[in-house]
Amino acid sequence: MSNEPRKTSQLFARKPLALLLEEAKGENRLRRVLGPVQLTALGIGAIIGAGIFVATGAAAHNVAGPSLMLSYVIAGITCIFAALCYAEFAAMVPVAGSAYTYAYATLGELFAWIIGWDLVLEYGVSSAAVATGWSAYFQSAVSKIGIHIPKLLSESPWAYDPKTGHFIATGSVMNLPAVIVVVIITAILVKGIQESATFNGVMVAIKVAAVLFVIAVGAFFVNTTNWHPFAPFGWTGISFFGHRVAGMVDPGGSPVGTLAGAAIIFFAYIGFDSVSTHAEEAKNPQRDVPIGIIVSLLVCTVLYIAVVAVLTGMVRFDQLDINAPVSTAFKQQGMGWAEGLIATAGVSGITSVLLVMMLSGPRVFLAMARDGLLPKSTFGDVHPKFRTPWKSTILVGIFVSALAGFLPIDALLHLANIGTLLAFVIVCAAVLIMRKTHPEAERPFRCPWVPFVPIMGVLTCLMLMFSLPVANWWRLLIWLAIGFAIYFLYGKQHSVMRNQSS
Ligand code: ALA
Repeated sequence: MSNEPRKTSQLFARKPLALLLEEAKGENRLRRVLGPVQLTALGIGAIIGAGIFVATGAAAHNVAGPSLMLSYVIAGITCIFAALCYAEFAAMVPVAGSAYTYAYATLGELFAWIIGWDLVLEYGVSSAAVATGWSAYFQSAVSKIGIHIPKLLSESPWAYDPKTGHFIATGSVMNLPAVIVVVIITAILVKGIQESATFNGVMVAIKVAAVLFVIAVGAFFVNTTNWHPFAPFGWTGISFFGHRVAGMVDPGGSPVGTLAGAAIIFFAYIGFDSVSTHAEEAKNPQRDVPIGIIVSLLVCTVLYIAVVAVLTGMVRFDQLDINAPVSTAFKQQGMGWAEGLIATAGVSGITSVLLVMMLSGPRVFLAMARDGLLPKSTFGDVHPKFRTPWKSTILVGIFVSALAGFLPIDALLHLANIGTLLAFVIVCAAVLIMRKTHPEAERPFRCPWVPFVPIMGVLTCLMLMFSLPVANWWRLLIWLAIGFAIYFLYGKQHSVMRNQSS
């Protein structure tokens, strides 16, 4: 077998699959408490949130028009390719760490580090974006009962202006509600997964009910003339490091059109991959994790397309609200009572996303610390009573609250998207490599149509990455440069693989 660690090149040393499976049986593991329904609920809990409830408004208004429903189809198909690849890995290597662990087994330590570092960015920044979206819905919900958060504490000090492509001062000092919700969720997560899963179940039920309500009631108010023009910004919108390749750009130079819309609302699908980070806590991971990933993604795709069709049918795209588009659409139809109901359900729905997102980052850290790439005493410490990675949960909480308090949602959304897309590219590539290097490994779930599905996964994710504004590429590269510095200064020396093989 070719899976032994290679002394000659630590950077590309791969973690033997047998070792990974052995480790999964060891002490200091997380509790196995999650079944297929809970895993699917965790998936839906992580998926439906600020993306559909918040980002949809600006994406339809500024980037894609009614063709945003097609953007959701494109992003959904992209995610299905990636989900099938995730599912193969998650069933094969059911330990915490998700794509990080898969990369370690297939592409070697350096790639594993890159992906682990990238995943932490994904979960951290997504959590911050979601907390900011939460704050917008929360403020809209409490304003119905006459409570108004003072302007000074209601939003990020900066906002992105698409007309100029620059950040402008908002007059606010910080987004206090976003910070507070992050602190509360951190406390819940330190206490433990079982309580969290139950809490999540209730939130998911409320959220799905709200989405079904929007579709069923909203359908009666659809005026099909609102769907014309269908793609006012064109069908594409691709740029390459700031140079237009296809379609139109906005005054700030960012691509617009149906594809560009898909790159933005891709955020709405982030989360299905987090099911795989809970593999270690699943009762029967080989069967239930693929079920959790695929079922949650399919359910959300169908619901999203229906919601966007209804929303853009109820309200002309250029009149959709940017902050709380779903609840406001009902107000615009004269149903104030429905607005309050949806805003409240939106708050609870977005809370469950935050819960799952913030649960995932510390688990990636945990896996990295176990491999010696990060200090074990902090990132690998599982609480003796709660059995949770409590120290890294608190650290992630601090990171997320700082981002959520001070950065605007658009910047956070884009950065989360590009980080996630990169993770998906690596996972899809890793499935192809693993099929070559470990053809004999037991695969309780096999990704269908290999190599077509992984190759399409890589290509579609790259296409969406290129449809994002160029600033995100720079931010991603800076983040990766910081990651490289940490790896070469700390991880490389402390790697368990290095010390075992020397
Ligand atoms: N998919 C998640 C959301 O839309 C991140 O909030």
